[in-house]
Amino acid sequence: MKILAIESSCDETAAAVVEDGRRILSNIISSQVESHIIYGGVVPEIASRMHAEAISGVVKAALDEAGVTLAETDAVAVTYAPGLIGALLVGTNFAKGLSYSSGKPLIPVHHLRSHIAANYITSPGLEPPFLCLVVSGGHSHIVAVNDYTDFTVIGKTRDDAAGECMDKAARAMGLDYPGGKNLDIISREGDPHAYKFPHPKVDSGKYDFSFSGLKTAIINTIHNAGQKGEEINIPDLGASCIETVAEILCDKVSQAAEEFGFDKIALAGGVSANSRLREKMKALCGGKGYRLYLPSLDLCGDNAAMVGAQGYYEYLSGNTAGLDLNSYATMPIDKPFYKEEQNG
Ligand code: KG4
Ligand code: ZN
Repeated sequence: MKILAIESSCDETAAAVVEDGRRILSNIISSQVESHIIYGGVVPEIASRMHAEAISGVVKAALDEAGVTLAETDAVAVTYAPGLIGALLVGTNFAKGLSYSSGKPLIPVHHLRSHIAANYITSPGLEPPFLCLVVSGGHSHIVAVNDYTDFTVIGKTRDDAAGECMDKAARAMGLDYPGGKNLDIISREGDPHAYKFPHPKVDSGKYDFSFSGLKTAIINTIHNAGQKGEEINIPDLGASCIETVAEILCDKVSQAAEEFGFDKIALAGGVSANSRLREKMKALCGGKGYRLYLPSLDLCGDNAAMVGAQGYYEYLSGNTAGLDLNSYATMPIDKPFYKEEQNG
């Protein structure tokens, strides 16, 4: 089954053709990063307008590269939630138009589910159940992937996402957007134990995270040094920040795997590209005898191939939508809203 997939939840306009959920026939990404750098982050209004300009060309390029016409594909999958609402609406409505004109089924795909599905492309042998750490710019979840379309959230952040914490810390250190990636690069030369930051205590919710305290502690470290006229070693501070985030994530994943009896662990989302997090996860899983699945670096960030992968399994589960499909800025990974609406 060939699925034409579309992604526009944040600042990448992307389209892909994916066969049977596992094989990429094309994967086109038009990134807006350059347009947002001067603002230090994504400007939603600019993102929506740029998606509108790019989407038809990106979809055409994906079909051309795959060597198929729309008529030769079997379904249209699209990220419909969660994300920037104006950005999501561009992709969702374009997909609805394609579905209407071609008569192909329309498959709504949850953004975090698709990040998890990037692993099905990178590791063709991976099948649920497994435990997944989903870490992106807006979300930090530990999820039990019970089946391809059946998820249980074991823990999530109470405030900032891991990516958001690193983005803000990077910005305070004077690094350009996208902060997390630049922080990763500059920190490779730094001492991860130069600065000590406490691990937050989250009162209830054993597997929940909190990253806002760490973000504030890093910003305060920079301000205090500035007031005293002291120099900050940015690679050391960056490495210490990443080390703390990676330790917090690894600790909770390790405990969750033990308590819930998982021996297969996957990483997903933009932050899963982080080199130190990948290293620490490898060490953790190696030590405990767990099998680790990491998305290839080109599939960690937002892309449409992962939407085509998850879209395949949503289709097999009967999760298609009508032309009244809407987009949603927020949506829990385990309870797709469109289903509730359809069921009345
Ligand atoms: O999944 P994603 O591309 O978009 C969202 O769905 O949010 O994730 C973006 C996040 C940003 O916070 C970005 O700074 C972070 O992923 N990121 C990284 C790295 N590459 C991207 N964080 C740490 N190290 C990286 N190498
Ligand atoms: Zn994402």
